[in-house]
Amino acid sequence: QPISIVGVPMDLGADRRGVDMGPSAIRYALVQEKLASLGYEVEDLGNLQVPTLESYHEGQQQLKYLREICAVSEDLARTLDKIVERERFPLVLGGDHSIAIGTIAGVARHHQRMGLIWFDAHGDLNTEYTTPSGNIHGMPLAVGLGFGHSDLINIGGYTPKIHAQNIVIIGARQLDEGERKLIREQQIRVFTMHDIDRLGMAKVMDEALQIVTDGTDGVHLSLDLDGLDPKDAPGVGTPVAGGITYRESHLALEMLSEANVLTSAEFVEVNPILDDANRTAKVAVALIGSVFGEKVL
Ligand code: ARG
Ligand code: MN
Ligand code: MN
Ligand code: MN
Repeated sequence: QPISIVGVPMDLGADRRGVDMGPSAIRYALVQEKLASLGYEVEDLGNLQVPTLESYHEGQQQLKYLREICAVSEDLARTLDKIVERERFPLVLGGDHSIAIGTIAGVARHHQRMGLIWFDAHGDLNTEYTTPSGNIHGMPLAVGLGFGHSDLINIGGYTPKIHAQNIVIIGARQLDEGERKLIREQQIRVFTMHDIDRLGMAKVMDEALQIVTDGTDGVHLSLDLDGLDPKDAPGVGTPVAGGITYRESHLALEMLSEANVLTSAEFVEVNPILDDANRTAKVAVALIGSVFGEKVL
């Protein structure tokens, strides 16, 4: 299937600036060339327009830059809708994780039920009532499930976009109290670092794939680079020690590729300012290779 790349230079959802340069860094690490070398027809639609942080007021403390993020999310949702209608595979490059609100809004409408793999050190399950930071990049998974500010959950004109039983979180190691509560109430399957250590990534992915494919007609991958260990992916705004290794992450995405169920993907939170000579963007491109079927032999 042909692939369409969209960049979203969004940093309004996170505290640390620099993540707006993520799409450029990933392009600089030759994402299009990687996909072309694997035999795909690729088009790069460029970046969506994102307002510059300095030109706007933060607004509400618990929902910083809500209006601006809503506007970009609607634009992203419409952009992805068109890509899917053209029967192409959408690959979104971030940008902070708030962009998942628009990505999911754009793709989930094309499925009866969409499975979702959320690869992240965090749950991103906060609402304006539970957020410790007011940063919307800590909220997109809750928003997809229909929890949060009405302007956020109604992006794309429908809610909820996804259902708790079709979701897995992989790599979690830093959850806020409100997020733990939502996980319990919604019975969301979370594979923490503890589970990955105990079971091994192969077993985790077997179970995860079962969950996201059972009764679904599509699977979205939302991969936050901070799911990886900061030793392997230092260029992220909210690093948390003790993460998924380079090897484990490749195994996970190779297994996802072999399952042949993926219908859309996004790679987010690459922050070149905090990076070490673009290493994290290079990791992102290597992982994109694995998702799209790259093999040694
Ligand atoms: N849980 C914290 C918060 O709500 C951190 C979220 C980090 N999210 C991310 N996409 N990196 O602010
Ligand atoms: Mn449509
Ligand atoms: Mn994260
Ligand atoms: Mn995240």
